Amino acid sequence: MVIGVIGTGYVGLVTGACLAEVGEKVLCGDRDDLKISQLQSGEISIHEPGLLSMVQENLDSGDLEFTADLVDLVQRADIIFIAVGTPQNRNGSANISNVLEVAGLIGREVSEGKVIVTKSTVPVGTSEKIRETIEKSSDAEFHLCSNPEFLREGSAVYDFMNPDRVILGVDSDYSEACLRHLYAPIVKNTDHILIMDLPSAEMTKYAANAMLATRISFINSIAALCRKKNADIEMVSRGVGTDNRIGESYLNPGAGYGGSCFSKDIRALVNMMADEDLDPSIFSTVEEVNERQKALLYQKVVERLGKNLTGKKIAIWGLSFKPDTDDMRAAPSLVTIEALLEHAGSLAAHDPKAIQEARKRFGTRIEFSENQYEILSDASALVVHTEWDCYRHADFEIVKSRMKEPIVIDGRGLYDRDWLCKQGFEYYSLASSSTN
Ligand SMILES: NC(=O)c1ccc[n+]([C@@H]2O[C@H](COP(=O)([O-])OP(=O)(O)OC[C@H]3O[C@@H](n4cnc5c(N)ncnc54)[C@H](O)[C@@H]3O)[C@@H](O)[C@H]2O)c1
Repeated sequence: MVIGVIGTGYVGLVTGACLAEVGEKVLCGDRDDLKISQLQSGEISIHEPGLLSMVQENLDSGDLEFTADLVDLVQRADIIFIAVGTPQNRNGSANISNVLEVAGLIGREVSEGKVIVTKSTVPVGTSEKIRETIEKSSDAEFHLCSNPEFLREGSAVYDFMNPDRVILGVDSDYSEACLRHLYAPIVKNTDHILIMDLPSAEMTKYAANAMLATRISFINSIAALCRKKNADIEMVSRGVGTDNRIGESYLNPGAGYGGSCFSKDIRALVNMMADEDLDPSIFSTVEEVNERQKALLYQKVVERLGKNLTGKKIAIWGLSFKPDTDDMRAAPSLVTIEALLEHAGSLAAHDPKAIQEARKRFGTRIEFSENQYEILSDASALVVHTEWDCYRHADFEIVKSRMKEPIVIDGRGLYDRDWLCKQGFEYYSLASSSTN
């Protein structure tokens, strides 16, 4: 059996590499010729732990191939994964034109018995649109499956190989059997494969992301009240999360969620509900709370140093939206950087992996360094955006010796307030009870 994967971004590349790793013959394709030629020579343009070596080893063994010839891919593959981007339209709805473009191509080239699997996050009902699109140009019998992806950037390979569950929306016993067979080496406990109809599988992805985002906005709202009432949000969060009915994950207060998925998917969900004349306010509020949260670090800088930042240098630790990735899409750091640049502050930034990405966005408007301490010289404040380990274990003697004013504004609650204050720092944290 040959597995085809169309779209070699975070999801497609991880899917292709992991399926090759468990012994499948995998052909990955993309319309981006440059990306494909880099992949063919064993280079990947994203940082994801374990991915580079997995790609290189499976390229060498011949289990993984990359191609820009999507027609050939569709003709050769027995199971075709669609893993292309589904960006946001201006009105917040999901743009499925890439998915339908691929469906059109499949329709022109498909032969009898192929299984078409949607991995991209798509609005409920998209599978039927894919079916209609393929049927416009083909009479061949094919099978559809919706297999939404739940991997987290930063641990994508691990998550793909160790899923909590695999969601399979299917339209036939045949597509169920094929996908069960494909996932068998990955999901050893068959109870962890949940079979459902296509719309339910599509919906599950949105519901899961909405729940996770809701938890983050929920705890950030509780944290705001804790700051006013002098309650300790860390203790409150633990007290809440240790209730088995609730659980501890996604209850860390901070500078808000970022990344390519949460905001985009919540806005698409709001759109789907509004289209059905349902009240989407619970989800629109989650987004509004998050947007306000993203602005808090910048507001703290201004509150502390004044609106006119001319002549003042602010240092930023962490640019990616979370650790172990170089992805800056919708990162809270972008909000801080854009606002500070507008107020004429001079900015210096460090990130273990995302400097290249940040340079593409900001060019020379920010001073970058590969050394996290170098950017602190003469800084009036240090803003910590991402919980990379190198910041968690920073040497604050060096930090203090370099900074002009020892002010630390922490968006992730990395430091012990008492200890840092004893070292002579003024400390503000979005994850602590008081503001300094
Ligand atoms: N990134 C994540 O953490 C994540 C997790 C779960 C689900 N998803 C969903 O998976 C999908 C892909 O996300 P991603 O982060 O991998 O996106 P991405 O932007 O990293 O990659 C998408 C790839 O698809 C290619 N592409 C777009 N249109 C194409 C076409 N018509 N033909 C061939 N190739 C095409 C692009 O060139 C790009 O390489 C999205 O729907 C996203 O919402 C993403």
